[in-house]
Amino acid sequence: MIVISSNSRGVGVVEAMEALKRGGTAVDAVEAGIRLVESDPEDTGVGLGGCPNILGVVELDAQIMDGRTLNAGAVGCVARYEHPISIARMVMEKLVHVFLVGEGAERFAREMGFEEATLLTPQMRAAWEKKVREEMGIVDPSSLKDAKDLRHLSKWATDPYTKMGTVNFIVKDANGDICMGVSTSGWGWKYPGRLGDSPVIGAGGYADNLYGAAACTGAGEMAIRVSSARSTVLYMKMGMSLHDAVSEALRDLNRLTDQRIGGVSILAMDRDGRPTCGNVGDSPPSYAYMTPEMTGPALGTGICVPFAG
Ligand code: GLY
Repeated sequence: MIVISSNSRGVGVVEAMEALKRGGTAVDAVEAGIRLVESDPEDTGVGLGGCPNILGVVELDAQIMDGRTLNAGAVGCVARYEHPISIARMVMEKLVHVFLVGEGAERFAREMGFEEATLLTPQMRAAWEKKVREEMGIVDPSSLKDAKDLRHLSKWATDPYTKMGTVNFIVKDANGDICMGVSTSGWGWKYPGRLGDSPVIGAGGYADNLYGAAACTGAGEMAIRVSSARSTVLYMKMGMSLHDAVSEALRDLNRLTDQRIGGVSILAMDRDGRPTCGNVGDSPPSYAYMTPEMTGPALGTGICVPFAG
């Protein structure tokens, strides 16, 4: 058994391992771990306390994929519920669909009995209001919703303040089953309705017991263009080692010299439960991991492929 997470503070890793030790499945463990990150207001890229869109609305995205069955569930633009990972799991388990967004996703969450929550923390509201007042000279930031044209503000999404936080968990359970989950509030100050890679199955995450799993953090617009997660797993299917598969998927990202709006990290596990993480750049990313004999998570260091172009 093993739990790995892109969250280098290791939030939720112990709880995910405890879920496994209680006999839970990889799906249970992924959900348990990610829910804790979603509830952590210190994490401004996921769940409660996430960075809002241009209009000051926090819109959450998540996906989960069960590598045993290749079943998957995803939700996007969820503005009123704290745990999109749990809604995504319910989509996977209760519906014939795999992906719900916006009002439909929220309607489904209500039907499933999820509690509504206020996701915008006072700190994030203040940060958004400051941004609107200082960069647009708008005294009342709430009036921005009546603006006819927000297009020119979409560049705000590249504001380094927001850091594009996302969390990935990949778990292998006692049965050898692998599950992957992703949750994010997406890019801060994003255009309303924008979806990144996080809820897109194959782009932001993929899991297949036969070969392994992968999930992404960073600039979702990049990972979508080269289907980074599915590509990583497919490269393992084609016979590459974990290291080579992640490196190849990073080289795919490296080809995106036009509209290179940010970096992407790939967290991955092979079918034997070996973990790694990789990015394009000079310094390899780190990830948290925990096996049953450990008392807490440790940090692993991944690999990096130099920038090209
Ligand atoms: N990877 C998170 C996002 O782009 O929204």
